[in-house]
Amino acid sequence: MVDLNAQYEKIGPEIDSAIKSILLSTAFIKGPDVKLFEEELQEYMGVKNVISCANGTDALQLAMRVLNLKPGDEVITTNFTFIATVEVVALLGLKLVIVDPEPGTYNISVAAVRKAITSRTRLIVPVHLFGQCADMESLMEIAKKHDIYVIEDAAQATGADYLFNNGTTKKAGTIGHIGTTSFFPSKNLGCYGDGGALYTNDDDLAKKLRSIANHGMKIRYHYDDIGINSRLDTIQAAILRVKLKYLSEFNKARIKVADKYDKAFSPCELICVPERVSYSSHIFHQYTIRVKSGKRDYLKKFLESRKIPSMVYYPGPIHMQKAYSYLGFNENDFPVTTSLCKEVLSLPMHPDMEQEQIDYIISNILEFFK
Ligand SMILES: Cc1ncc(COP(=O)(O)O)c(C=O)c1O
Repeated sequence: MVDLNAQYEKIGPEIDSAIKSILLSTAFIKGPDVKLFEEELQEYMGVKNVISCANGTDALQLAMRVLNLKPGDEVITTNFTFIATVEVVALLGLKLVIVDPEPGTYNISVAAVRKAITSRTRLIVPVHLFGQCADMESLMEIAKKHDIYVIEDAAQATGADYLFNNGTTKKAGTIGHIGTTSFFPSKNLGCYGDGGALYTNDDDLAKKLRSIANHGMKIRYHYDDIGINSRLDTIQAAILRVKLKYLSEFNKARIKVADKYDKAFSPCELICVPERVSYSSHIFHQYTIRVKSGKRDYLKKFLESRKIPSMVYYPGPIHMQKAYSYLGFNENDFPVTTSLCKEVLSLPMHPDMEQEQIDYIISNILEFFK
């Protein structure tokens, strides 16, 4: 699905020397590269504050904790996402309110959010799934009207641009009150282990986030908040500084692959290619098709037999997982999520795909449908 070896072949010498410099400096925790990476990412994202942390799940947890939400406060998010988005809500004792996504973009349905708002709603968490932004302008309008927070889970969309009605753009993750991301190795901007970050234009929130990510400490050994230990390792920051320089180029290469997939599969009746919206670029963390007429699992097996990997993100709806049975839902309560879980298939997607590989994948998929 992702070829990190091919990428390493390209940028290996730079990565090696970045790692070596940290080994020699021994500044493994909170070394200078962490701050430098935060500053460079701030500039790239066009946001006032980047706060690095240990992973994208912690970033979500820190973001929800800093907003002083109370147990039982309602948090609206999508039912079609990686589990981290919802697990943090549940862990913090907040009331999880899941809603269906849009069938074409897979992103949270604004109409469903509107319906789910109550007087107890305190937060909306849109996820920019697979690399394309949710309808942030509408969501921010709803949030403003009801005086509620928005945390963008931008783990899969580092580098995507959101286009506002007035023609201005912002990077995914920098529109809501707080944005979060993950540097999991397979992400568009991935490190060589775990890593994550938060974005915010609010300096007070940024200060508090920095403190709670580091044991609640602003001054050494003085604790203003009950915190956690969630720091980005200096080695990972040094790797990310190298990879950030290539992010735009890598994202463009992904879009080229997606264009070729789109062109090949659009005429095919039983395949729905991912919908692209006018208000967001798509940086294709995943290229995810929908396979109609119950043929998804047959296609997956056929591709396996041709040594072509494919993945189902996500196979089981969250509302049917054992851990979330306490929510008390039935399968049919979320028809869009349920049908997506049966139809979606993600194809190999990374910046180093060769034409020959793309052709092989396309011709095998078209052969299956013939
Ligand atoms: C949408 C989304 N949110 C949150 C996360 C959690 O990030 P991490 O694995 O770094 O904790 C991930 C991915 O891994 C993700 O895809």
